Amino acid sequence: SSEFTEVSEYDLPLDTKWEFPRERLVIGDRLGEGAFGLVMKGEALGIFKDNNSVTVAVKRLKEDATDREMMDLIREMEMMKLIGKHKNIINLLGCCTQRGPLFVIVEFAPHGNLRDFLKSHRPLGSNFSCIVDYERPVFTNSNGSGSACGSGFPPGAVVDMRQGQGQGETPLKTLTPKDLISYAYQVARGMEYLASKQCIHRDLAARNVLVSDEYVLKIADFGLTRNLTQFDYYRKTTDGRLPVKWMAPEALFDRKYTSKSDVWSYGVLLWEIFTLGGNPYPSVPVEDLFNLLRNGHRMKKPPYASTEMFSIMHSCWQEDPNNRPSFNRLVQELDKILTSSL
Ligand code: ADE
Repeated sequence: SSEFTEVSEYDLPLDTKWEFPRERLVIGDRLGEGAFGLVMKGEALGIFKDNNSVTVAVKRLKEDATDREMMDLIREMEMMKLIGKHKNIINLLGCCTQRGPLFVIVEFAPHGNLRDFLKSHRPLGSNFSCIVDYERPVFTNSNGSGSACGSGFPPGAVVDMRQGQGQGETPLKTLTPKDLISYAYQVARGMEYLASKQCIHRDLAARNVLVSDEYVLKIADFGLTRNLTQFDYYRKTTDGRLPVKWMAPEALFDRKYTSKSDVWSYGVLLWEIFTLGGNPYPSVPVEDLFNLLRNGHRMKKPPYASTEMFSIMHSCWQEDPNNRPSFNRLVQELDKILTSSL
């Protein structure tokens, strides 16, 4: 095939610990498209047990990829090997490096990304969208007053999704406050692990967390090489969001990325969870965001968040990175909340 000849100029070292026979991998539909690569669905025969076919996700380059992009994918694969396995991250399963295009085989998460998952579990036909319509401007002026509809949500409320989305599929299960706190906890666990391996994510957001079997949350794209010297502040995601809105001020202004700047992003991710996939600072353009952050502005408490959860969220947005909690600390706090009250 043409793929075959195009990449034959690269000779990658064989790593028998990870090499998976190409002929036992069947590539299926496209799951997603990244900055430089494609993610395909696949079936890997015998990757765990003989004759057992496992659905996997396969990262590969686009046809017109550059040498730099090839090197980035190799680095991502090597990074995943070094980081090792954890329940709350997308784990490396294997790779095809010999005689053909590079395929990096990772765990497949059947429920897609957390942002879409949360949004699809919003109740329809209720006044939910009035209560938390984060698609409309929440911040109407620069000092941050003004809100979507103002009212708080009853404590202990159940997020009722039984009306479903009308897609004629299995009725959506009801998300409880405990589910939401469990999501917060699981992401903190994954990040605690990555931080312990000196891995800084740099783009932690609900769109980069995947929902796997039994609703286990897994952090994705932690091994990506990000070009920080040519960072595009105006870059939008496919759904029109600005990744800068997840960035800590020191990362944004001084390119100072640490696990503590990941903690800031984690705070924004918490906000996404407790708005069921809301859009942070909607309709705030990049230039205004800079000023907003310089003036110490912070997002308000989402209706579904308890004051306790909001206090955790808010602590992640401390100006001084040293005053933010560590992921260790966040895991402890969330564990306490999860095992006590609910
Ligand atoms: N989209 C991108 N990566 C994915 C994965 N590992 N599982 C499911 N969908 C994905």
